[in-house]
Parts: sequence; structure tokens; C-alpha cells
Amino acid sequence: MLNKIGLIGGGNIGGVLFAEIAKRRLAKRIGLIDVKPPDLAKGKALDIAEGSPTIMADFDYDASKEYDALEGSDLVINTAGVPRTKRPDGTIPTREELLATNLKITKSVAEGIQKYCPEAIIVSIANPLDAIVYTLYKILNPPKNKLMGMAGQLDSGRYRYFIAKEAGVSVENVEALVLGGHGDTMVPVRSCCRIAGMPVEKFVAADKLEAIETRTRKAGGEVVGLLGTGSAFVSPAWAALEMTEAIIYDKSKIVATCALLEGEYGIDGLFVGVPAILDAGGVKKVVEVDLSEGEKAALAHSVEAVSKTCAEVDEMLAGL
Ligand code: APR
Repeated sequence: MLNKIGLIGGGNIGGVLFAEIAKRRLAKRIGLIDVKPPDLAKGKALDIAEGSPTIMADFDYDASKEYDALEGSDLVINTAGVPRTKRPDGTIPTREELLATNLKITKSVAEGIQKYCPEAIIVSIANPLDAIVYTLYKILNPPKNKLMGMAGQLDSGRYRYFIAKEAGVSVENVEALVLGGHGDTMVPVRSCCRIAGMPVEKFVAADKLEAIETRTRKAGGEVVGLLGTGSAFVSPAWAALEMTEAIIYDKSKIVATCALLEGEYGIDGLFVGVPAILDAGGVKKVVEVDLSEGEKAALAHSVEAVSKTCAEVDEMLAGL
């Protein structure tokens, strides 16, 4: 159990996070900041606190429109930003199209962290994922272990779910990994996909695998299209909590993580989705997977997309 977990943004994902942190008893105190009037943060926190006797979970909280609610947090999870929402004409924006709006929000997020919990480990969820993590890095310049993004574990979860249903086995039997940026170029790594330790090809035909990998890359958009307003929020919150629990319980667990690369995979200075060992200090080590030539090329293509969005971040930050 941590002393305090700070949550930035109390919308759909932030709400699930708050409730789960309380239910799983992950922190003695929860801090929630959300700028939405009249006082979304206080409202969400009070609602959940009033349910705490029912689930028999003691916790204290600070909830506010101001960033002082984060004061003293050991770990913060950032969900501040607009989600993808289906447009009136039925089209769905890419995550990258959220950049201009969410980058400005991220600047105030970074200032809040800097002021009230500069030592905290940061797990960021806001989109465009890789670029927002990069923005936090540019403004805060934290040590490599203390800043990470949540995306790959969600994307891997989606891949695992689709495979489990196709193979007719429990989701518990399926191991999978999605590498690269959290966008349409992400790379489901078939060579890492196993069912109870056996190669996935033993259970699922090649054409079905192809279709599942395409669906995985577009899975976020599929949910956006169905919800009508906003994007997926339960599965992202659970994936972030898997990362958080690996840290809280000092598990040294390998989790698909958007981590700073400093030469790993031949990439330098970008945050990209890779497997990483997470322990009490955050990112302990990036794990390099042996990739096929095709997978290497797909990863390079995905990194190109991340690099392009980060170049836009650099430009926008210079203009702020
Ligand atoms: N500080 C704190 N909270 C903020 C700020 C800010 N500067 N700006 C906006 N917010 C809050 C909003 O008021 C809103 O309540 O962030 C919350 C975001 O919640 P939702 O709109 O419900 O979005 P959610 O589904 O939770 O997704 C959040 O994560 O997956 C990504 O694409 C998604 O970028 C989006 C983010």
C-alpha cells in the first residue's frame, strides 16, 4: 500500500481508477484533481467515499480543482485531456489529432506535478499517448525509471482477448505483446503470442491471426465508434492498475510499457511501447525482444510515426 496515489483527471478513466484504488486498497490516501466545474473531483471522490463502508475500504482523500490535491503523492496517474469522440459526420479522429488540445493541458499537468509531488512516479494515459509522455519528459526531465505511459498493456490485452475467443480458450492462457506507438501503426508481435506456452499458430489459422492483428490495431477506434461519446475507459484503467500494482508490490513484472529508449531497439530519446521490468522504482529495465525482419520493419515504421508527432510536440512547446 502506498501512502498516496494522485489522479489527474477525474473523468471516465479517472473515475474507474479512483474506485479501483479504493477497492484494491492500493493507497491510504487518494488525491484527485479535475478542473471541471462545478467540482467534478469533489463529486467523484465523495460518491466513492460514501460507498467505502459498503466495500469495507478505509481511505482518505483530497479532491480539488487545484493541483494541491496531489501534494505528497508517491505515484500519479495522468488522464487529463480530451478523449477521442465520434464526430457528427461519423468519422473518428486519430489520437494524434488530439495533440494540440492535450499538449496545453499536459503543460499544466506537468507544472502541478513539479510543484506538489516532484518525486512521484508518473504513469500517463492521456492521448496521443507516446507524445504526451514525451511532453511530460521534456517539461519535467525526470529520471528514466520514473516516467512511463500506459498503452502497450491495453493493446496486448485486446490482442489476448481476441485470440482467446478465436481459439476457444481462457484469456488466462494467452500471452501476447504489442510493441511500438499507441496508434494505427502499433505492432502485435505474433512470435511472442503463446497459448499455454505453445505457439499461437497451433490454435489459430494464419488468415484469422491477420484479421485479429488488424482488429487489435484499430480496437480503440472500434470502441469509440460504438460508445458515440468518448473512448474506452475501463480496460485502460485496469491496464494502468496492472502497472501500478507491479510498482506498489515491487514485482519486477514484465509489462508492455511506453518507456524512454536510450539506445534499446536502436532508438534514442523517444518513448515507445516495449516490454519493461517494473519494480518499486518504476521502470527497472527495458527488455529487448528478438524480432523477425518483418517485425523489425513494422516497429521502425511505428517509431517513425511516434517521432513525427514528437517533432510536432517540440515545435508546439517552443511556441507556448
Ligand atoms: N487538469 C486536470 N484535469 C483536466 C484538465 C487539467 N488541466 N483538463 C481536462 N481535465 C479533465 C476533464 O475535466 C475530464 O474530466 O480530464 C478529464 C478527462 O476525462 P474524460 O473526458 O472522461 O476522458 P477519459 O475517457 O477519462 O480519457 C482521458 O485518456 O485514453 C485517454 O484519449 C483519452 O486523452 C484521453 C484521456
